[in-house]
Amino acid sequence: MTTKGMHPMRLLIMGPQGVGKGTQAALLSRHFGIPAISTGDIFRFNLKNHTPLGVQAQGYIDRGELVPDDLTNSIVKDRIGQDDAAQGWILDGYPRNASQVDALDAMLKDLGTPLDAVVALQADRDVLLHRISRRAQEEGRSDDTPEAIFRRLETYERETAPLLAVYSKRGQLLSVDGTGDVDAISQRIVEGLAH
Ligand SMILES: Nc1ncnc2c1ncn2[C@@H]1O[C@H](COP(=O)(O)OP(=O)(O)OP(=O)(O)O)[C@@H](O)[C@H]1O
Ligand SMILES: [Mg+2]
Repeated sequence: MTTKGMHPMRLLIMGPQGVGKGTQAALLSRHFGIPAISTGDIFRFNLKNHTPLGVQAQGYIDRGELVPDDLTNSIVKDRIGQDDAAQGWILDGYPRNASQVDALDAMLKDLGTPLDAVVALQADRDVLLHRISRRAQEEGRSDDTPEAIFRRLETYERETAPLLAVYSKRGQLLSVDGTGDVDAISQRIVEGLAH
């Protein structure tokens, strides 16, 4: 089934490092025919190409810290304003703190486009650590060192996890079990969104 071209769909996908946001964002992108926008991927592209943005962001990323909000907010504002995002998008890795929530609220208000839902993927810490260490071996991301991983998880717990309550209060949160088969997880999300 594809719902491409039906109604616009604007989603956030949230959850801790290694929970499978990128994987599920790609499947949802295909399912709904909308772009998946990952701030982490945008930063990594800029690092690889040594752009001014990449140079500015490198130190933060390698240490496992958040890139400053003004930089991050402006790349998101730019990206969701592009033509291919007019019919919707899935944001992976943003917002990650309260001030980014405010910034996103302002962008959506400007664009006149409401958010449809926030998908929160969940998995236990041992599952996350196992997946991250496997990915570190396969992909060799510069920030998949033990210190940076620890700091990212810590930052997630402190700054990002509390945002789930914000979206829950707005009635927009869909919590989904992020363990098991990739397609089964995707199916859970799509079914949850239909309700
Ligand atoms: N919204 C954001 N605000 C600030 N920095 C960000 C943001 N998104 C990405 N970054 C930077 O890019 C790095 C990589 O982000 P990315 O989301 O790819 O990895 P992650 O946090 O390990 O999650 P995942 O395991 O799901 O890929 C972050 O550690 C951070 O430095
Ligand atoms: Mg990711």
